[in-house]
Amino acid sequence: MNVGRPPIYCASMSDRILGNNDAASWEAIYQADDAGWDIGAAAPPFCDLLVAAPAWLRPGRMLVPGCGAGHDAAAFAAAGFAVTAMDFAPTAVRLTREKGIHVVESNFLQPPAALTGAFDYVLEHTCFCAIPVCDRPRYVAAARRVLKPGGLLIGLFYRFDPADVNGPPFALSEEDLRTAFEPEFEILELQSPARSHGKRQGRERFLRMRVTT
Ligand SMILES: C[S@@+](CC[C@H](N)C(=O)[O-])C[C@H]1O[C@@H](n2cnc3c(N)ncnc32)[C@H](O)[C@@H]1O
Repeated sequence: MNVGRPPIYCASMSDRILGNNDAASWEAIYQADDAGWDIGAAAPPFCDLLVAAPAWLRPGRMLVPGCGAGHDAAAFAAAGFAVTAMDFAPTAVRLTREKGIHVVESNFLQPPAALTGAFDYVLEHTCFCAIPVCDRPRYVAAARRVLKPGGLLIGLFYRFDPADVNGPPFALSEEDLRTAFEPEFEILELQSPARSHGKRQGRERFLRMRVTT
């Protein structure tokens, strides 16, 4: 994934902080038809989750930040969830809208005030690993802000190779996840999915986290 612009550098953080967080750079990737992350369908662990239908997963309002082409958003909408997708790249917004999904064109790190406390779920999939490491606290704050009390952040967190510091996607370990999300979220489930797409096997974790009060 080449985002094509100079990286943002946050001098107060460690060296795992090179990145890019502007819509134009992501849009350029779509325009160049280079969205290598797009697997063309909902992520296999999400499909398995919807089939398994655990007791905690009941249709409700769901926000899908960094929705890309909207495959995951469409799968959960088809399963009865009231889905709002979000992306700041216009082409991602268009591709998701074409699937009949309600989409907000916005930077997730600054979610519109109207979305405050609006959702039962936030669904993550290769958005967190796209956020510059220094902005991870802003992702966590945004997820907290849009969730209802007791709401769940569920998703697939990608890239478990801490030795590789370049991104996006940025390196991410289980320790990084705990550092980023606790204590704002209580981690209820953290596991390697039984089935992942292609080369993602072993390189993603499924998490279920509840926002703390
Ligand atoms: C690696 S892609 C993943 C897309 C989709 N979730 C998937 O798995 O196919 C990351 C997506 O997040 C979007 N994105 C990155 N940072 C964002 C931000 N701060 N706010 C909204 N969208 C963002 C990008 O435009 C891109 O569509």
